[in-house]
Amino acid sequence: MNAPAPIVAPSILAADFANLADEARAVEGAADWLHVDVMDNHFVPNLTIGLPVVQSLIAATSLPFDVHLMIEDPRRWAPGYADAGAYNVTFHAEASDNPVALARDLRAAGAKAGLAIDRDTPIEPYLELLPSFDTLLIMTIKAGFGGQRFIPDLLDKVRAARRHVDAGHLELRIEVDGGIAADTIEQAADAGADAFVAGTAVYGADDPAEAVRRLRQLAERAAARA
Ligand code: DX5
Ligand code: ZN
Repeated sequence: MNAPAPIVAPSILAADFANLADEARAVEGAADWLHVDVMDNHFVPNLTIGLPVVQSLIAATSLPFDVHLMIEDPRRWAPGYADAGAYNVTFHAEASDNPVALARDLRAAGAKAGLAIDRDTPIEPYLELLPSFDTLLIMTIKAGFGGQRFIPDLLDKVRAARRHVDAGHLELRIEVDGGIAADTIEQAADAGADAFVAGTAVYGADDPAEAVRRLRQLAERAAARA
């Protein structure tokens, strides 16, 4: 099977929040998507940004937005991000009692629909739902904070999802998020991920665009070996 080119999505969680538009533009031309972590201080203890900031940022950059909602009650809030023009809107399985219905709403609003699986959630109950989704985000840390250490054991979920996606000929990106850097991206790609979120590894670097290019190179190299 001809695998699609890997997606690299810098997370602005690790960027300078006083200069978000400049930080977003710093990876234009290098990144595929811009990953935005929305946290509500309820689903996760941390608090970040919400819809008004995302709306302004979408207007300020040409990158497709990959919105990662770490919030309670996504049915209420998620469609607003699709209406704002986000390319992909991902909500957490743990926060939703009807993921398929919300995926339908997101697609109807013109966005791709993403399902996120946190560290302690098994993947198996969700595999059957994947035809309703465009992206599957598998956390490789516990959701909530940037800068945590990558947990290699969580790649078993990526492998299980990859087997299921390939066997069912599903068109679905498998995205990993948490601790993705030059020393971890290849093992994630080997496990079957084809979209990579990186916060610290991009915005902690002197040249964020160069860091994105380097990560892409490593992911491509791993994909070519597969
Ligand atoms: C954490 C967020 C991540 C975070 C990753 O819950 O979902 O997107 O920005 O940061 P790093 O790449 O530093 O682990
Ligand atoms: Zn994220």
